[in-house]
Amino acid sequence: EKKRTLYEALGGEQAISTITEQFYQRVHMHPDLKPLFPDDLSETVRKQKQFLTQFCGGSPLYTEEHGHPQLRARHLPFEITPKRAQAWLDCMEKALAASQLEDEEAVHELYRRLTLTAHHMVNTSV
Ligand code: HEM
Repeated sequence: EKKRTLYEALGGEQAISTITEQFYQRVHMHPDLKPLFPDDLSETVRKQKQFLTQFCGGSPLYTEEHGHPQLRARHLPFEITPKRAQAWLDCMEKALAASQLEDEEAVHELYRRLTLTAHHMVNTSV
């Protein structure tokens, strides 16, 4: 029997879409994050939906279009300090709460995995 993926437990495409949109609304208003991002976030949102889908065990949408994620390398052009990683996680925590998903265990698991990934992105000490 095939194990249910995190993607399915969260609520599939609709859930990933809601989380991502809630997230970038907050990123766009966060003083520590806004300066790093383009003004028009539509392409960023599109890529993040693809990435989170595969990160949660859904279809490998990101890799199909962009190749291996190599997330740490893709973030090297940006100075990611511990403070910015925490800001990213704060936006995500609020986005997850606002998304009102049913399976709290699944939400908690996603946040736990994103915390590890966010810390892995840190490439600048101050
Ligand atoms: C792209 C910042 C963590 C996934 C980006 C971009 C910035 C950024 C500035 C470029 C946006 C653009 O030009 O479209 C940060 C900061 C983080 C962080 C400050 C703090 C730790 C993460 C984490 C993930 C992630 C934890 C995994 C869920 C991505 C993806 C892209 C991206 C998939 C698109 C890459 C591409 O261009 O193909 N990030 N990020 N980021 N980030 Fe992050």
